Parts: sequence; structure tokens; C-alpha cells
Amino acid sequence: MTQAQQNNQNIAALLLEQRRYPPSADFAAQANAGEGFYDQDPDTFWENEGRNRLSWFTPFTTLKQWDPPFAKWYLGGKINACYNCVDRHVENGLGAKVAYHWEGENPADRLTITYADLQQRVVKAANAFKHLGIGKGTHVGIYMGMVPELPVTMLALTRIGAPFTVVFGGFSADSLGGRLNDMQCEHLITQDGAWRRGKPNPLKPIADEAMAMAPSVKSCVVLRRAGNEVAMTDGRDHWWSDLVDGQSDDAAACPCEPMDSEDLLFLMYSSGTTGKPKGVVHTTAGYLCGTATTHHYIFDIKPETVYWCAADIGWITGHSYIVFGPLVNAATSVMYESTPDYPDKDRWWDIIERYKVTVLYCAPTAIRTHMKWGPEYAHKHDLSSLKVLGSVGEPINPEAWVWYRDHIGGGRTPVVDTWWQTENGMILVSPLPGLTTLKPGSATKPFIGVQAAVFDNDGKEIPPGEGAGFMVVKGPWPAMLRGLYNDEARYRDVYWSRFENTYLAGDGARVDEDGDFWLMGRIDDVMNVSGHRLSTIEIESALVDHPEVAEAAVTARSDAITGQAVVAYVILKGGKDGSPEKSAELREHVAKVIGPIAKPANIVFTPELPKTRSGKIMRRLLKDVAENRTLGDTTTLADASVVDEIAQRAKLEADKEG
Ligand code: WT7
Repeated sequence: MTQAQQNNQNIAALLLEQRRYPPSADFAAQANAGEGFYDQDPDTFWENEGRNRLSWFTPFTTLKQWDPPFAKWYLGGKINACYNCVDRHVENGLGAKVAYHWEGENPADRLTITYADLQQRVVKAANAFKHLGIGKGTHVGIYMGMVPELPVTMLALTRIGAPFTVVFGGFSADSLGGRLNDMQCEHLITQDGAWRRGKPNPLKPIADEAMAMAPSVKSCVVLRRAGNEVAMTDGRDHWWSDLVDGQSDDAAACPCEPMDSEDLLFLMYSSGTTGKPKGVVHTTAGYLCGTATTHHYIFDIKPETVYWCAADIGWITGHSYIVFGPLVNAATSVMYESTPDYPDKDRWWDIIERYKVTVLYCAPTAIRTHMKWGPEYAHKHDLSSLKVLGSVGEPINPEAWVWYRDHIGGGRTPVVDTWWQTENGMILVSPLPGLTTLKPGSATKPFIGVQAAVFDNDGKEIPPGEGAGFMVVKGPWPAMLRGLYNDEARYRDVYWSRFENTYLAGDGARVDEDGDFWLMGRIDDVMNVSGHRLSTIEIESALVDHPEVAEAAVTARSDAITGQAVVAYVILKGGKDGSPEKSAELREHVAKVIGPIAKPANIVFTPELPKTRSGKIMRRLLKDVAENRTLGDTTTLADASVVDEIAQRAKLEADKEG
């Protein structure tokens, strides 16, 4: 791109950013969050939500306890997540309401699962799990695709008080094994394979490798889904159908276990700035209340809403906004098994038209992919049922925001750009449809009671309109992480050591004159590729793990579709030169060690890496090279010529690729 083209593009982006979308009077008149919403006292608000949105076996006595950096919410209460998501709705006469319109990859594979069906499926699974010896406090791993049995498994485990961790199906055996070990899981629930573009993507074979590294796992339950051949180990492995199908579905005979508000609900592993993923701890009552309350107001959920979150349940978005939040609210959701382009690029729009979806929640990377494919796929379908559109996972560029609203939302629908993280459990910053004036590219306002702010280097709050700094939260919120599993030191260090009693999110941000937040991406060694969080250090370790790699440095460059893309700089042992074959081999190696999602987009072979005199790799410079920018200050470099060399090679690589 020439400088002039770049300038024009910057101006166009700026103009889009300055557009304003005040709520329509029609929408405002019936919105869940009415005028005066933010004037409520936050503690009273969360107290009421806790009492009214959730059902308790024993009501809580204290709203919260804040002993920084440790929070507890809804203390003294006894509650069960599955009861709140399923049983009480059936008891309240909503048994015939649809919980999930499930759609398999093959368009002929459709299931309508009512709340009564869901209860029967969950009770059968819970009975089967009990039969295996799973009970209150047993740790269980889950490695499945987007099949109905995945939420059923999560709910069945919470029913009997067993904490779990779901590992996304795109992770490798090493990643799965590491998580099973860290949580000391005694059981693993998986499936033979998941459908991906007409082919089975094997899961059980990967689970077998993972279990070989995780001796705590005593049994494995395998759902038949894709029909691919799998090995079954006698005494350890059981087919789902053999265990579950014959069980009783009598809910009364399989009661929901009363749990303490602060009992562990699940762990979600997330990449940080070291090689080892963090086990983010989420507990029961605050998590349920935080997810369900935000779901209700931010997506303006009504009894007749048909809600679709197109994320994967293997990530926090799916836990909070496909499973727990929507089910607590007795919402009707769509759940889709596979990719947006199977059998054709209009699959999403076909689904929306068929189920008359009213709320769509997805990631900017998906929106940009649809933009690239062209709006004609959406225009072939009647999308007039849509009322609210949501975005999550990475900053949404104003161009994609406006395209989303115009082409998918018919120029009518509010777009809610929701900022939050695995650690947050629930959305923290987002517009409220019908209430907030929208700005393309801004997540706008903190949710009620969320003390979000932007701090400067010295921990002073930067006033609105006065520049960018660190995104922080100054106090606890109901669904916040309660710690990192078995690692209090890291919990304190990562989130609470930079500023006193203040949560450091790891994002850059600014607040404009109107008090609206603009999130600007990560400020640490964490990358965001297609809304998936990846750690530079983890990918570097994976590369160095290859026998021919001497050293590796990883950074991210911007990418028009995936937001960021991984660029790896690699020194081969013995000064060997790289080749396209070696590049392909190293990418496969990263896929094997971490998972296909972590494969570098580009690999640059280099004889040296830019380092400071103390030997620290200068990632900032590598990023400049990756972004094709003019280089920043190189005076602290041990050997400044190295950077030129790398820049040249990076350019060659870029020319080759495109
Ligand atoms: C990181 C968290 C929980 C959502 C799924 C990703 C980035 C997320 C936004 C947004 C700008 C966003 C941040 C954050 N992010 N949503 N609306 N605008 N950035 O969860 O893997 O825990 O990643 O995603 O950088 O720190 P995650």
C-alpha cells in the first residue's frame, strides 16, 4: 500500500469511528434496561439480581466480601447451577420451551431440545456419571465438539457437584494432557471425532495420547458422533450409549447437589505470558448471577427471543453465553456444530432465517470473514428477525462494525461490542441496547457496578478525553475469577501486583470525553488470533522443542481477517538455512505441541535475533518488522545490523507469500 492509500484508509476509519447511533425510540420503549438503569445503587442491584434471578436452596446472607485480591459473592448461600439452568424451569411450567435448536454440520441433522428434554438427558448422564464413581468434588475433563452432549455433560456434572474443565477441540494431546494433569482429573468425557467440513476430525485418538500423560484419569466416556475408527481400552473406556442410554431419567431420584456459593464450578485454562496456561477459577453463585444478568440486559432477552452465540463452548464465551447465562434465563438458543462455510458461505444466514434468530453474538474475525466473502450471501436470506447483534473477542474495527449493522442488521439493529476476558467470567464493558448511544469501535460503558478505569504508569486514573493507558478494574464483580488453580503467587503477580488492589486486565484502553471506553488490544506478550488468546512464550517453547530449532522469537502482526497473526523468527541449529518445507514442518510441529490454532502464519528464518546487551529478545523490534513499519529505537541493541538482516528476510518472506 502506498502512503497516500494508507492515509486515505486512516481517514475513512476515523470518519466511521465518529458516527453516532442513538437508540431508536421504539427499541428504548421496550428495552430491558430502561432509563435510570445506571442510577441504581450497584450493591442493591446485584443483591436483587442474586435474590430474584437465581433460585436458592438456602438464601445468601451477605452480598460480597472483598479481601483484596480475593472476592466472595453471595456468601452463606446454597445453590446448584444445574437446578437453576434446567430443573426449576420445568417445575415452573417451561418444560415445553425450546432450550436449544441444535443443528449439526450436516443440515439434515437437527434436534429440538426442550427444557424437559434437556432435564431427561442431564439426569440420565448424571446417573451414568455417578455409576462411574463421579460425585461431589470429583474432577472431570471434557474434550468434545459442539454436540448436545457437551452442555448435557457440563450440566450433569454440576448437578452432582463435580467440577470440570472443558478443553477446546482444537488443542493438541500435550495441551489436553497438561490440563488434565494440572486439574488432576479422574475422568474424561470425549467423542470419537467432530465433523469438520464433511470429514471427521478425530478427538478420541488425541485423548488417548493425552491420557497416556495423565495418569490421574481412570475412565473415559466416548460419545459416537463422527464414526471414525477409535481404539477402546478395556476397563478404562466406555461408550456413552452403553453407559447413558439405559439410565433412569427420573429427576426426583437424582437430585441436584446443594453447593456453596463459592464452590468451584469449573476451571478454564487460558494462555498467559509464560509457557504454562493458567487455570482460571470460577465458582458457582457469582458466576451464574453475573453471566445471566449481563445476558438479560445486554442482549435484551425476552421470553420469545431466539438467541444464537456462534462461539465454541470450549472457550469462556461458550460457557458463559451458550450454556450458563442463557439457561439460567430460560432462553431459547441456537447451537451449531461446525463452520460458517459448510456446505456454503451462507450457512449462518440460512440458520438465522430458518429459526428466526433475534440475537446474534459472534467475533469480529467472523464478521470480517463474511465481509470478505461479500454481503450477497446474507442478502439471499431474510434476516429481518434480528434485533440485536453482539461482538466479542477482540477490538472490532469501525468498518466491520458498520458492515455488520448494515448488511446483517439491515441498518436497524443495535450492535453491542462487549469487552471481557476469561478471567472476568462475564461481560464488563458493553452498550445496553435501547439505552446507549453506539459508537463503532467503542465498547462504551462499564456494566453496572463494574469499576472499570484507565490508569497511567503511576496508577493515576486518566480522566476522560486525556489519553490512553492500562485497562483496570478497581473492585470486585460477581463473576470474577477467584484465583489461579493452585497458584496464588501467580494470581497475585499477574493481576494485582502492578497497581494496588486493582485488577490489571492486560489491555490498553482510553476513555473519551463522553466516558466511553475504547479497547486497544493487549499490552503484554499475549496475542489474539481470531479471538483466541495465544501466548508468544508458549509458541516459542513449542518451536524450540523441535530438534532442529536453536532459538525462536514470536510476535504478532495485524491481519485483515484474524485481527492478529502469529509471526515466528527462527534460528536453526548449526546455522542451517530454512526452506518452505522446514517452514511447513515447524508449523505442523506447533500444531502438534499446542494445537492447530497456534500455527504461525509466517516463519522467518534468521541467523540472529535482536537482543539487548543483557540477552533479552527485543520483541518490539520484531513486531515492527512483522508490521512492516519503520524501525523504532535500536540503540539498546547488541548488534543493530541484525535488525536490518531480519527486516530484509521478513520482506522476502512476505513477497513470497503474497
Ligand atoms: C482478551 C481476552 C471473553 C471474550 C473472549 C476472549 C480481547 C475481548 C474484546 C472487545 C476489544 C477484546 C482483549 C482481552 N477482547 N473482547 N470487545 N474489544 N478487545 O477471551 O481469550 O480471555 O481474551 O480479548 O484483549 O484481554 P480471552
